[in-house]
Amino acid sequence: MVKPRVYVTRVIPDAGLERIRAVADAEVWEGDEPPPYEILLEKVEGLDGLVSLLTDRIDAELMDAAGGSLRVISQMAVGTDNIDLAAATERGIPVGNTPGVLTETTADFAFSLLMAAARRIVEGERYVKAGKWVTWGPTLLMGHDIHGATLGLIGFGRIGQGMAKRARGFGMRVLYAGPSVDEGTARELHAERRDLDELLTESDFVSLHVPLTEQTTHLMADREFKLMKPGAILINTARGPVVDPGALYRALKEGEIAYAALDVTEPEPIPVDDPLLTLDNCLIVPHIASSSLATRSRMATMAAENLEAGLKGEKLPHCANPEVYG
Ligand code: DGY
Repeated sequence: MVKPRVYVTRVIPDAGLERIRAVADAEVWEGDEPPPYEILLEKVEGLDGLVSLLTDRIDAELMDAAGGSLRVISQMAVGTDNIDLAAATERGIPVGNTPGVLTETTADFAFSLLMAAARRIVEGERYVKAGKWVTWGPTLLMGHDIHGATLGLIGFGRIGQGMAKRARGFGMRVLYAGPSVDEGTARELHAERRDLDELLTESDFVSLHVPLTEQTTHLMADREFKLMKPGAILINTARGPVVDPGALYRALKEGEIAYAALDVTEPEPIPVDDPLLTLDNCLIVPHIASSSLATRSRMATMAAENLEAGLKGEKLPHCANPEVYG
């Protein structure tokens, strides 16, 4: 029997790739960097399934280049802002994603960024490696306490709630902004709802957990930074464009806020001459919040499961555009 044709836009963990190869004739882009869009346009021609990553632009033109054969797009990520979901729905193509499996790993990482920023861990390491540690210093690298501080979560979905659980263990007070959760959840997590401005004014740490949409693009800009406390710390593990990078640079440079810890940037990757990289009070890592061995394997497996279901014409276990099923 002829296997369906599938293109995988990067080498993903074996757990997923093996499963994909078992059900499909799969071609994999072997490069470390994403395939250029022009290559993708050629590769999709006549495809049955596409396994994509958040670094691929999947738009209407690309879907049409498949020539009507494309039955499923399976993205190995929970976020799908790189995919034109409306265009996929119009063309009857279900789009799979990987919610849930990365929640705890991402919350672990967001909390690690919070701690690293608060206690200036990266600056401390740089200081030691630069040979500057000559004595114990009474005012050396003084940071911010985590216990007793107020954590403001913008977005209170799975990952935001994961942060709230961790914060409780550290004796923090938790606020959230965004759609309200049921009373039981809020009570269990000891989280109080605020509107955005109140949250920004009251919080010592502000952590972003919203998807990237038109409404959340540059949600954090000049006005918002001005509302924050001068000693406040911003954590972003959501999407880079949720923060206006020019406004963040100014806020950090002028001491409007104390520190930022970013897993995601605009653009990605951040150019090496970006002004944010010149700041000691800005910690930037390369979009690795979900990158634990176990979680990336689970994400790859889930992407393979979604793909398989789509190829068989079954409902995807995790579908980002459920309206495609009418
Ligand atoms: C996602 O899945 O959307 C994360 O940003 C990458 O793991």
